[in-house]
Amino acid sequence: MSERRVILDVDTGHDDAVAIMIAASAPELTLEAITVTAGNQTLDKTLSNTLNLCDALGIEAPVFAGMTKPLMRDLVPAARIHGESGLDGPVFQPRKKIAEKEHAAVALARMVTEAPPNSLTLIAVGPLTNVAMAIRLEPTVATKLRELIIMGGSIGRGNVTPSSEFNIHADPEAAAIVFSSGAPITMVGLDVTTKITLDEARLASLSSIGGPAAEIFSKSMGNYMAACRHYLGEYPAMHDPSCVAYAIEPKLMTLREYHVEVEYSGTFTLGRTVVDTAGVTKKAPNARVGVDADETIFWPLLARALGHWSRG
Ligand code: BDR
Ligand code: CA
Repeated sequence: MSERRVILDVDTGHDDAVAIMIAASAPELTLEAITVTAGNQTLDKTLSNTLNLCDALGIEAPVFAGMTKPLMRDLVPAARIHGESGLDGPVFQPRKKIAEKEHAAVALARMVTEAPPNSLTLIAVGPLTNVAMAIRLEPTVATKLRELIIMGGSIGRGNVTPSSEFNIHADPEAAAIVFSSGAPITMVGLDVTTKITLDEARLASLSSIGGPAAEIFSKSMGNYMAACRHYLGEYPAMHDPSCVAYAIEPKLMTLREYHVEVEYSGTFTLGRTVVDTAGVTKKAPNARVGVDADETIFWPLLARALGHWSRG
């Protein structure tokens, strides 16, 4: 099987960090670039977290800084869950890695434009601000991608409001641009990511793999678990890592084709992904939506990623 060329768009973030680890170490993937947006924390923090992680693990993919704010709204970071730094837990040494000079949205537009059609997969695991900007800069970004895998939305429950998931709620206008762009979207929403949750026993067993990645994982997931238990009453879902694991092994998820609209003016439903599961609108599907996940496929891929850095 040929390697899959991927770009990761992140707002690093505890689970974003794990997504980067899996993407950077998978032999099935080539991580071409990491683009960073504001989301879980302000851009300076999400960028710093991304660069620190890459530096600590020797991840050489270029890192591009992107949007500091959602398109139309103020940023509301997820400090409750990810902490003041956005990646509370691990402590990093002073770093050498620096961000590229080009803006992330411009870089995304350039990289997709330069690549042969259907050769690049974009995995977006933060608010969709950079992606929407790239599509506005160069509309063919949407149609040239092999796949746009989005961590965001939900058919059912929300996690930031009863109705809405964080990434879509953070920048609903950007999400509306992306979902109506014609891109080959795979939506990895809460319906699937909440089926892959980390408990104490799994955290202990993955931490015991050893090496720098497992150490960062252990410290950041310890914080993430405590926050999710405290504020959500749930074990932490492997939201962003699931998207990368799916790119490696599509059997991870069961998908259905649906038409999805993003609510950007609702009073109680702002940021909801309205998924037409019954075909009421008769509109053609614009996304393949994850409806189920097989966690037995996920955990070995995560263990393999952590083990990549434990071999000395
Ligand atoms: C999403 O929100 C963020 O806090 C996580 O990193 C993930 O991308 C889950 O709703
Ligand atoms: Ca994220």
